[in-house]
Amino acid sequence: MFFSVMGGYINWHMQQGKTGAFTDLPHSVVELGSGVGANLRYLPTGAHLIAIEPNPYMHARLRRAANRYGIDLEIRSVVGERIDLPDASAQAVISSLVLCTVNDPAAVLAEVRRILVPAGRFSFAEHVAAKPGTPTRWSQRLLRRPWAWVFEGCSCERDLSSLIASAGFTSVDINPYRIHSPFVPFNTQIAGTAVA
Ligand SMILES: C[S@@+](CC[C@H](N)C(=O)[O-])C[C@H]1O[C@@H](n2cnc3c(N)ncnc32)[C@H](O)[C@@H]1O
Repeated sequence: MFFSVMGGYINWHMQQGKTGAFTDLPHSVVELGSGVGANLRYLPTGAHLIAIEPNPYMHARLRRAANRYGIDLEIRSVVGERIDLPDASAQAVISSLVLCTVNDPAAVLAEVRRILVPAGRFSFAEHVAAKPGTPTRWSQRLLRRPWAWVFEGCSCERDLSSLIASAGFTSVDINPYRIHSPFVPFNTQIAGTAVA
């Protein structure tokens, strides 16, 4: 419900990062943690989307959104740490606001590399830990417990840039930026693309 109601607002704040990262996606895409379909608008009409979405409460809204956008949707109820797709089978993998929530982001990135074809791309828009010593970083530390409780284990304290850069991709392009929402711990973000 939260992501259905707030999706437009969150997307409006993140559009700078997403527009760059999710441009020119191919006809067939794998998405980690699709939620209720925030990123369907970036797919070409008629695209085939394999959604790795372990939360069954997201599925009905995700299906409705796929119908609206004309997306051919296939949902896999598995976690990103164990994707049930063959090696080198995906042209592109995308994620937004997911690596903050998964239990083991390094394992998820290893799975992304495994399923991507050589030169396939992983495009992401995520929120990350702020620079040490800044007010945003303090807020991320102070609010970590209630934040994780409200947002299903989400952490605002992950250095995802370093994690993606050291995950073994051939090339990585990461654009850090700041949004200005009232959800201060969420405001430090990255978007970019890693090539397998
Ligand atoms: C904060 S929501 C973001 C949803 C959507 N990507 C968006 O930008 O609105 C996080 C999503 O990741 C999913 N998720 C949580 N743990 C996961 C895991 N281990 N593997 C894949 N998806 C996961 C959740 O079910 C949820 O849909």
